Amino acid sequence: MSKIQIAPSILSADFGILKQEIEALEAAQADIIHLDLMDGHYVPNLSFGFPLISKIRELTSLPLDAHLMVTNPAFYIDELAKIGVQMVSFHQETEYHSHRMVQHIHELGMQAGIALNPATPLSSLDEILPELDFVLIMSVNPGYSGQSFICSNLDKIQRLSATIRSRILSIQIEVDGGVKESNAKEIVSSGADILVSASYIFSHSSYSDAIRSLKNV
Ligand code: DX5
Ligand code: ZN
Repeated sequence: MSKIQIAPSILSADFGILKQEIEALEAAQADIIHLDLMDGHYVPNLSFGFPLISKIRELTSLPLDAHLMVTNPAFYIDELAKIGVQMVSFHQETEYHSHRMVQHIHELGMQAGIALNPATPLSSLDEILPELDFVLIMSVNPGYSGQSFICSNLDKIQRLSATIRSRILSIQIEVDGGVKESNAKEIVSSGADILVSASYIFSHSSYSDAIRSLKNV
């Protein structure tokens, strides 16, 4: 089994002390910084945009992973590449032309992922799967941090993992929403490679302990 990577979602960070927050995540052995982009249209919430992402890019050399919870993901891709984001995922539910979008992300030199809401079936990825670098399984409904993990996603992760193996593909499974110490082991044994976490890590008194507890599963 490959090493688990932890991607803290900056959504729960204190933006007033962003530099210290990023330094603390680096010191705590975070592997990736997860960026939740929300447009107040696809999801009922707004988060942040390019100026903050540029600032984060200046502050760290960790890989940046943009999760686009927006109605028009195509609007954002070029600017994210310019800023130096390495991974981009868009929601299958938002894009008529997933294949074109994945090609465009690759042309810009970034890794491409597709995110699936809890109610969106894995079968919607059947044709596009070989083109992807990762799949983002949403284990909560998108829009907010601090929600509870929806348990039916364990089975979904297992089925995706089995499909990836049987089709001899090299695709990472990223799991996002409600990840914490008490469920990380089950999520990883179901097949996750990357765990996103916002509220669990940022509400912990020690980011190092929180990240260690998610990695040591
Ligand atoms: C939800 C976001 C998640 C969220 C995770 O819409 O995509 O990345 O910030 O938050 P927690 O870990 O608190 O569920
Ligand atoms: Zn996310």
